[in-house]
Amino acid sequence: MKITHIEHIGIAVPDLAKAIEYYENVLGLKCYKTEVVEDQKVTTAFIKVGDTKIELLEATSPESTIAKFIEKNGGKGGIHHMAFSVEDGVANALAECEEKGVRLIDKEPRKGADGLDIAFLHPKSTESVLTELCEDPQK
Ligand code: CO
Repeated sequence: MKITHIEHIGIAVPDLAKAIEYYENVLGLKCYKTEVVEDQKVTTAFIKVGDTKIELLEATSPESTIAKFIEKNGGKGGIHHMAFSVEDGVANALAECEEKGVRLIDKEPRKGADGLDIAFLHPKSTESVLTELCEDPQK
């Protein structure tokens, strides 16, 4: 697989509006979009930092993995996952990972926020960092 850059860093937040305020007012960055991702039960907000984005994630339901993450973290947010951009197809990257014995969360790519094809690798196989592979199918 060919990884080109860190596409985004996913950060779980208990209060999206408050988090956006921090990134905009303190760090001087700009949130360019928010999007509800129904199947992941989250609202996401995107902030560009060069070629990389910050993906803020707020749960829309107590069933959301983000709600569970925050609960385990004593009610606080934190870094949730890291996403790499691949340029030769998420499906190909997944096949390669599987061949190398990596435990997959997603056996096939699915649609993520911001129009990306995405798939997650299990932290048990990725040095304890929840890892997302993604590709923009428009590029
Ligand atoms: Co992500």
